[in-house]
Order: sequence, then structure tokens, then C-alpha cells
Amino acid sequence: MGRILAIVAALLLVAARYARAQSALSVDLKSPSSIKAASKIVAKNLMAYYHGDEYGQTIGILPGPPPVGPYYWWEAGAMWGTMVDYWFYTGDDQFNNVTTEALLFQAAAPQNSYQPINWTASLGNDDQAFWGMAAMLAAEVNFPNPPKDQPQWLALAQAVFNTQAPRWELEDCNGGLRWQIPRSNGGFNYKNSIANVCFLNIAARLARYTNNETYAQWVETTWDWMEGVKYIDKAYNVFDGGHVEHNCTDINPVQFSANAAVLIHGAAIMYNHTNSQKWRTRVSGLLNRTIEHFFPNGIMVERACELDDRVQCNVDQHSFKGYMHRALATVALVAPFTHENITNVLRTSTQGAIKSCLSDGTCGFRWTTGNYDGDVGMGPAGQEMSALAALMTQLVDQQPVAGPLTNTTGGTSVGDPNAGSIPNTLPTLAPITQADRGGAGFLTAFVLTSLLGCLIWISSEWAEGK
Ligand SMILES: *[C@@H]1O[C@H](CO)[C@@H](O)[C@H](O)[C@H]1NC(C)=O
Ligand SMILES: *[C@@H]1O[C@H](CO)[C@@H](O)[C@H](O)[C@H]1NC(C)=O
Ligand SMILES: *[C@@H]1O[C@H](CO)[C@@H](O)[C@H](O)[C@H]1NC(C)=O
Ligand SMILES: *[C@@H]1O[C@H](CO)[C@@H](O)[C@H](O)[C@H]1NC(C)=O
Ligand SMILES: *[C@@H]1O[C@H](CO)[C@@H](O)[C@H](O)[C@H]1NC(C)=O
Ligand SMILES: *[C@@H]1O[C@H](CO)[C@@H](O)[C@H](O)[C@H]1NC(C)=O
Ligand SMILES: *[C@@H]1O[C@H](CO)[C@@H](O)[C@H](O)[C@H]1NC(C)=O
Ligand SMILES: *[C@@H]1O[C@H](CO)[C@@H](O)[C@H](O)[C@H]1NC(C)=O
Repeated sequence: MGRILAIVAALLLVAARYARAQSALSVDLKSPSSIKAASKIVAKNLMAYYHGDEYGQTIGILPGPPPVGPYYWWEAGAMWGTMVDYWFYTGDDQFNNVTTEALLFQAAAPQNSYQPINWTASLGNDDQAFWGMAAMLAAEVNFPNPPKDQPQWLALAQAVFNTQAPRWELEDCNGGLRWQIPRSNGGFNYKNSIANVCFLNIAARLARYTNNETYAQWVETTWDWMEGVKYIDKAYNVFDGGHVEHNCTDINPVQFSANAAVLIHGAAIMYNHTNSQKWRTRVSGLLNRTIEHFFPNGIMVERACELDDRVQCNVDQHSFKGYMHRALATVALVAPFTHENITNVLRTSTQGAIKSCLSDGTCGFRWTTGNYDGDVGMGPAGQEMSALAALMTQLVDQQPVAGPLTNTTGGTSVGDPNAGSIPNTLPTLAPITQADRGGAGFLTAFVLTSLLGCLIWISSEWAEGK
């Protein structure tokens, strides 16, 4: 084991030296063809982390979940959403088939609601929803429809909504969704923003796409609840969540950009759907706060964990910048009054992102340093996704880009209001304690620490000329 780690560490060091020798990615942000060419390089680099279509691997997932590999199940859902957008913005269809195959396989027949038995131990409402949001996006951009005998994009998003709405529960905190789905998962007692903003986001997009007001009412309910428990405050900060045993009053005030991004996207869709002053005010407030908090000096920073002197973001958090850039690009399209402010800030932020990339499309995490920071974290797919998101959405600034479609404006995806009603086959698992989950995380951390230890050890040997 020690020897294998040493070899891996040596390879990493060689890779790091090679990286230093490489030039930066060059892009002309005023040229759509240059943006597309650079996006293609980064997309290819991102997709190299996907092995699900290789022999003996599981279709649709990134290596994981910990301790098997760095990525939890949800992150692949987020990646396929990114790849749907990649096709939408650039027109490059080389990853469409692998994307479709992944989105259909992990939907998990027969219920097709993105709740595969395999991933029950880490299945939160947010995890399920990131896959659902990818399917919803596929409907909104007319991503090529699956074969007729397969579940359709719109129906997949409806299945996620239909399985989540009954989980809304009034007993604690006056409403809201819990974070985790199985009672036995650590975090079942946490009612957090991400679970609820994802639900709101899907409901808003279904309302706009299908014009069914039931969905819109759920959006109103969810927003009102989040304001009621003060997860959204008067200044439009979006906090992380609270616990049912404290009636959700023990708010963890940390602010992650994923919460703000998914929420402003949903709010802007509601503004577009209702054309109301109420939702316009909310979008303005969220945008103002988002730009001030997450884009200090015009470049995105994941402030909760990307600190001046160190980065303590986990694998999940390394991917958040991408969701913000993609969400804001869509907000600019559906809420045109935000277009100028959004394109201005995304441009300066993307200039930072590009400087974090090397010419082969390897991108770092910090966008404020003017260089590749070498931060591969425990797995770099998130960094790649984020840089790709920043790059490709720059096209919003350079050429006419159509807003998301609906059933009456050209969207062709076929829905099913009752999707997800086939009984779920989730087995009753032995309770998974908080310690188990923590343990899994710890194991990865331990392996990484050993790896890092080796790296430092080898470096110093190297430095001594051995
Ligand atoms: C995707 O799959 C279809 C049907 O199998 C095939 O005709 C098409 O060439 C594939 N496209 C790409 C880009 O691989
Ligand atoms: C679940 O795991 C089994 C065994 O590894 C695998 O064959 C199957 O494809 C997985 N299904 C999903 C939806 O990931
Ligand atoms: C819990 O909080 C809600 C408001 O979020 C309030 O209506 C309810 O009375 C509280 N319940 C208890 C038991 O304090
Ligand atoms: C509207 O959506 C609700 C919630 O899913 C569903 O029960 C209802 O059948 C839908 N109505 C129509 C006309 O599709
Ligand atoms: C946010 O709102 C404040 C107060 O209205 C304003 O001074 C500031 O310029 C706004 N910031 C952004 C980024 O819109
Ligand atoms: C755009 O930014 C300016 C300056 O920060 C601010 O005053 C204005 O309110 C913003 N507009 C919108 C729609 O957010
Ligand atoms: C809604 O979005 C479309 C683009 O999809 C845009 O043309 C339209 O102006 C938006 N409506 C409102 C009220 O802003
Ligand atoms: C729009 O929705 C209606 C009702 O669900 C459906 O009958 C129709 O086929 C849909 N239109 C398109 C273009 O998919």
C-alpha cells in the first residue's frame, strides 16, 4: 500500500511540474468561436473523469461515493446538467449520447424518479433534485428526446416533484422538506435550504413549462416558509438550515453559493411566469446580495470555505461556482432587467476563471490569483465543471441565446403529471448512523493525508537531489 501511494504521489508530482510548464488557456471572450473552442477543451478534460461507460463500471456516476471514490452520487447529476447546457450553448453534440444514457440509467426504473437503491445511504432530497434539475433543463432546451419507450425529460422532473411534495411536513418548523430522504440517514433531522430551494426550483420550472398552477402554489409555499423560518433574511442572505428538534431556530448562518444560485434561478423563473412585482423585487434583492457576497471585486469566491489563507472546501463545494454561473446566465435570459448587471459580473468572473486554467483545460479552484492554483482537491471534476460553466455561459453576452422553452413555445418533451407513482422499491436499510457517514468521510481524508504525506516526503527527497 505504501509503495502504491508513493508511486501515485510521484506521478502527481510529475503532473504538477508538467502543469507548471504549461501555458494558460487562451480565450477571446469577444469571439463566440474562441469561447466554443476553449469550452470544448475544458469539457473534454471534465469528461475524462467519467468512467461509467467503461467495462465493469456503473453507468451515469462519477467515481464514488466515498470511500470508493471522491464523488457523491449527486455530483454526476450536476455534471450531466452541465453537459446538457454545454450542448445548448455550444452546439457540440459529442457528449449527448453518453449524457442521455446516464440520465436515463440513474433515473432508476421502474419508478424513474432518481432514487436508485444503490445510493440510498447518501440520498437527500437535494441529491435527487440535482438529477431532476438536469432532466428539467433537458426539457427546457429541447435536448434530443429519449426513445419513445424510455422515460421523457419532463416526466422525469415531474417524478422528482411528485415524490418530494408528499415529504413536506408540518409537524416540525411549520413545514419544509428535510435534508435526507431515508429516516435512517444522518441528517434526517436537518431541514436545510438546499433541499427546499431545489424543490422550489423544480416546481417553478414545471409551473412555467406546463402552466399548471399547482406547481406555482408550491413555489409560493416554499418561499414563504423559508422566509418564515428566516433561512432567507430581509437582506436576502440565504442561510444553510436548522434542526427539527429546535423547530429550525438553530440556524446555521453559513452561506453557500449553491443555495443562492438554485434559489435565484427559481425566483427568476417565477418572475417570468407571473410577470409580477413581487417576484421582480425578490430577484433584484437576491441578485444584489449574490453579487455583493459571492463576487467581491467581480470574481466569484466560495466564501464559506475559500479563505484568504487556505481552502477548506470539500469535493461538493469545489463544484458550486459552476451552478452559480449557469443559474445567473439563465436569470439574465428570463429576467431581462438583470441582463446588464449579470453579464458584467459574469464577464469579470470568467476572466478570473480562465486564468485559473492551463492550455490543456486543467482548471484550478481559486479564480482570483491570476494563475492555475494546482488545487485538485480530492477530485477535480468540480473545478472543471465550474470553469466550463463560466466559459460557455459567456455566449449569453456575445450572441442571441434563447430562453428556456415551455410547452407552448416549442418545448417538445412529453410529460406525465402522475410520474413517479409506481411504488418505490427502496429497501428498509439497517440504520446508518452519523458516525458511519462521518467515518466514510474520514476514511477518504485519511487516505488523502497519507498521500499528501508521501508527496511531501518525496518532494523533500527530490529537493535533496535523490
Ligand atoms: C448517438 O447515438 C445514435 C444512435 O445510436 C447514433 O446514430 C449517433 O451517431 C450517436 N451520436 C454520437 C455523437 O455519437
Ligand atoms: C447498482 O449497483 C449494481 C452493482 O454494482 C450495478 O450493477 C447497477 O448498475 C447499479 N445501478 C445503478 C442505478 O447505479
Ligand atoms: C415552530 O416555529 C413555527 C414558525 O416557524 C411556529 O409557528 C411554531 O409555533 C413553532 N412551534 C413550537 C413548538 O415552538
Ligand atoms: C397539475 O399538477 C398536479 C400536481 O402534480 C397534478 O395533480 C394535476 O393533475 C396537474 N393538472 C393537469 C391538468 O395536468
Ligand atoms: C445593492 O443595493 C444597494 C442599496 O440599494 C446598492 O447601493 C448597491 O449598489 C447594490 N449592489 C448591486 C451589486 O447591485
Ligand atoms: C445594477 O447595478 C447597479 C449598480 O450596482 C444598481 O444600482 C442597480 O440597482 C442594479 N440593477 C439591478 C436590476 O440589479
Ligand atoms: C420571459 O423570458 C423570455 C425569454 O425566454 C423573455 O423574452 C421575456 O421577456 C421574459 N418575460 C418577462 C416578463 O421578463
Ligand atoms: C403540451 O401539453 C399538453 C397537455 O399536457 C399536451 O397534450 C401537448 O402535447 C403538449 N405540447 C407539446 C408540444 O408537447
